[in-house]
Formats: sequence, C-alpha cells, structure tokens
Amino acid sequence: MEPTGEGEEVLRVLRGRAVVRRYTAEPVDDALLDRLLEVTVTAPTAANKQAWGFLAVRAPRMVRCLRAFAPGMIGLPPLVVVACFDRDRAVGEPAAPWDAGMLCVAMAVENLLLAAHAVGLGGCPVSSFDRAAVRRLVRLPPALEPLLLVPLGRPARIPEPAARRERSEVIRYESWD
Ligand SMILES: Cc1cc2nc3c(=O)[nH]c(=O)nc-3n(C[C@H](O)[C@H](O)[C@H](O)COP(=O)(O)O)c2cc1C
Repeated sequence: MEPTGEGEEVLRVLRGRAVVRRYTAEPVDDALLDRLLEVTVTAPTAANKQAWGFLAVRAPRMVRCLRAFAPGMIGLPPLVVVACFDRDRAVGEPAAPWDAGMLCVAMAVENLLLAAHAVGLGGCPVSSFDRAAVRRLVRLPPALEPLLLVPLGRPARIPEPAARRERSEVIRYESWD
C-alpha cells in the first residue's frame, strides 16, 4: 500500500534529514524545545526502562564551554542537548548493561534530530567529546553517562543529504547470499 498524505510527509522528513554543523545565532524558542524533547522521550526503550536523561544547555557561556570539550562539535549552536545513559535504570546482560542503554539513547537522539528537522531546525549527533569534562561542567549525577552531544539550531545553510552505500549492498531479503 502506497503511503498517502501524512505518511508521505513523514517519509519526506525522514529522507530529507542531514546533519547540520553550522547554525545561525537565532535562539531556539523554549516552547519549541519543549516539544522536541517531548517527542525525544517517545522513542522505543528496552523494557520501557527509559534508562536515559536529556539535559538542554542554552546559556551561551555554557554552550561555548561544552564546545571547548567537544572536538567533534564544529559550529557554535544556540543550544546543546546532552543525551545520557542512566546506569541506575540499565537493563540487559549484567556483563553488558551499556548495550541496551546505548541503543535506547541513540533511538531517542534520532527522534530529536528528525523532530528538529521537521520544524526547520538542524543538528548533529556528536560523540567526539571529553565525557569526564562534560560530566563535571554540567554537574551530572554519577548514574548519568553522557553518550552524545546534540547541537541544535537554525541551519546557516540547508545541507544536502549525504551519499549512502548502494541499497543492494546493505539491504537483502530472506537470506544474505
Ligand atoms: C554515533 C555517531 C557519532 C557521531 N559523531 C559525530 C561527531 O563527533 N562530529 C560530527 O561532526 N559528526 C558526528 N556524527 C555525524 C555523522 O558524521 C553523520 O551522521 C554522517 O556523516 C552521515 O551524514 P548524515 O547524518 O547527514 O546522513 C556522528 C554520527 C553518529 C551516528
């Protein structure tokens, strides 16, 4: 069945997202930020444990400090969301409690990025940062481990979606060979 109307619009949003690394100085309105965070936490989460925490950093001085600890953060955004795994709510193998936590945080961050894109903002998942320094700067409790920084803002220019590998190389049906 071909998607129509609303479904087609969702697919258009999914297809059009690309990382945004340069932002205008325009702040992100708090009410809009609230709506983005609301859909962030609707992501799938192992055993519905919601082993995560999301900290929105808006103060320009703090954003600059975060960027100083994050070589992977290119431009200067008006806002950064620190996406964290919550060890106290971890599920899964005791030997690898991080696996499910990382997957859940990643899914939530994808929601955040897609929601931002849908409302005309842009962002980038950033894993290249000094976790210990960030944890100290924003005073995270011991159970919260920062996994991704998500700078968000109005794109300075609209990026082209990045090239992807051939679908026949990465998508197969029924069995791999
Ligand atoms: C786990 C993860 C970590 C990433 N870390 C960084 C980063 O530190 N700095 C950065 O500029 N981009 C980072 N990216 C963004 C990727 O470079 C980007 O998603 C990729 O080039 C594909 O581009 P697209 O998202 O526009 O399709 C990261 C992406 C993922 C999924």
